[in-house]
Amino acid sequence: MRKPIIAGNWKMNLLPGEGAALIAALKDKVAGAKCDVVVCVPFVDLCAAVEAAAGSNIRVGAQNMHWEKSGAFTGEVSAEMLKAVGAQYVVLGHSERRQYFAETDETVNKKVLSAVKNGLTPIICVGESLAQRESGETDGLVSAQTVKALSGLAGEQVKDVIIAYEPIWAIGTGKTATDAQANETIGVIRAAIAGVYGKEVADATRIQYGGSMNAKNCEGLMAQAEIDGGLIGGASLKAEDFSIIVAAATATVQ
Ligand code: 13P
Repeated sequence: MRKPIIAGNWKMNLLPGEGAALIAALKDKVAGAKCDVVVCVPFVDLCAAVEAAAGSNIRVGAQNMHWEKSGAFTGEVSAEMLKAVGAQYVVLGHSERRQYFAETDETVNKKVLSAVKNGLTPIICVGESLAQRESGETDGLVSAQTVKALSGLAGEQVKDVIIAYEPIWAIGTGKTATDAQANETIGVIRAAIAGVYGKEVADATRIQYGGSMNAKNCEGLMAQAEIDGGLIGGASLKAEDFSIIVAAATATVQ
């Protein structure tokens, strides 16, 4: 039985004080959660978020990092730096970073290896564009993205990473993948992991859905056998909506 994980991706939203207030409002609402609860916040919000989440079951993550430990990389932040301020997770390879900041499967892989080495849990995003779905490329693409991102990890390490299947056409569009579409593609990703690391590793690895997941559609998505949680954008900025999604994940835990 895989423990569900609901993670908020705040993207480039909320000042440190606003983020701390959101976490303060969230704390009580998710206190009884039977899933993991994470908020992935802008770098400058990390310290305030960690402080606000102290003593609660909310964990804090970042949204990107560099793979090197330190050096002449102006504007970048390392895994060690994220750990030092209390981050425990990091979103890697989000489609917005692949699209606007030229991230590639190779750089995502370097970041994944560095995150794992430094004790951060990566939330690795994969997903196809609408054109790729329509031309039947989805399965091959998400499989390749997943296998490349994990390259160099041992099976035992793969079990501890999180994969987020985020179809690009569903992000911020209000257009969600159907429950069946999300479940099917996540099954494809799990099969790709099994192909390299074996069934036991694949069965232990948690794979989220992301893309316009909200308080209304979360129950149907969470009821799917392959879906182990959600990576939530817009709806994670509202304590009420995010806590409803956490409750839907909790309801799937026996
Ligand atoms: P939305 O939930 O706003 O569609 O964003 C999804 C996402 O990109 C999470 O990483």
